[in-house]
Amino acid sequence: MRHLIDSTDLSVAEIDRVLNLADDIIRDPAAYGDCCKGKILATLFYEPSTRTRLSFEAAMLRLGGSVEGFSSASTSSVSKGETVADTVRVVGSYADIIAMRHNKEGAPRVASMFSPVPVINAGDGGHQHPTQTLTDLLTIRSLKGRLSGFTVGMCGDLKYGRTVHSLVKALSRYEGVRFVFIAPEELKIPRHLIDEVLEPANIDYQEVATLEEAIGEVDALYMTRIQQERFLDKSEYERLKDVYRLDAEKMAMARADMIVLHPLPRVNEIAPEVDADPRAAYFKQVKYGMYVRMALILTLLGIKNQLAPVRTEEPDWVEEPPVCHNPACITTVENGLPQRFVYTDESHTHKKCFYCEHDA
Ligand code: NCD
Repeated sequence: MRHLIDSTDLSVAEIDRVLNLADDIIRDPAAYGDCCKGKILATLFYEPSTRTRLSFEAAMLRLGGSVEGFSSASTSSVSKGETVADTVRVVGSYADIIAMRHNKEGAPRVASMFSPVPVINAGDGGHQHPTQTLTDLLTIRSLKGRLSGFTVGMCGDLKYGRTVHSLVKALSRYEGVRFVFIAPEELKIPRHLIDEVLEPANIDYQEVATLEEAIGEVDALYMTRIQQERFLDKSEYERLKDVYRLDAEKMAMARADMIVLHPLPRVNEIAPEVDADPRAAYFKQVKYGMYVRMALILTLLGIKNQLAPVRTEEPDWVEEPPVCHNPACITTVENGLPQRFVYTDESHTHKKCFYCEHDA
């Protein structure tokens, strides 16, 4: 049984097949209208969401299946102190597939270890958001015609933005992708992505502080919201919240064939005047998100696109040091979960938490 917890859990070839299936669904949605008849998707959303949850639910309903779930931890047994492990064992007895969003990083990973049915990570804290990445890949492939040989600018909260983390990992596996990271000093792309993903694969990247420095050279501009809910220091959020604003004046500096993406919701980072620009692709992106989730559900349920039963062997882990220091890690709230760390280099000098990937 396969899960989707990290954006690299599917190989590049497997992702291609999911995107091809999504294209086929877009061409003829009616042909897929009964594919999930009798199947149930459970959406376990411990953290607020509009589009991701509704997108998953719309995807399952359009496949002829049904949905159940909760949209806040306070209305579920979590408020009584139930663990993720127990919740998915229970829900996995009712449903055929689970989509989970959690404010704690690594929670969907824990769910996948205990669930009797496939688990999809619908966003865990500031860590990963792999189905947004599938959405982004399908959007780029559909609008630019390729997933290789282009420059992508990523702008905004690159520190806490889980969509950025997942997309960087995924795009790094394609030929000739270059990154320009546009962020203030406080919200720069996490060091571990540079050390473990970009540097080993020899990927060209640049870090700049202003949109003006980068906008003229990118093929795709990925705007992101400053992630208010992840800031430990609220005054820092206030200081940084309006640091970037894409407007008509800046769009005039961009290439004629550039596309603007945004996982949404937007706050102030894209002026409404940009919406009418043909290069604004963020509302098209929303629709691609639903189709790609349809394709993913069909794939993980084994109805289309048979996947190999397991991706790779689990990495070796060690149970030291005794605790993960990331305050957002699932291990800080789930008593009894074994602490696990995996080595990030061959010389075994660096370790990261198996669940949230925070440096040990
Ligand atoms: C993103 C998320 O939840 O991480 N939204 C989404 O899923 N479409 C981005 C965000 O909240 O800023």
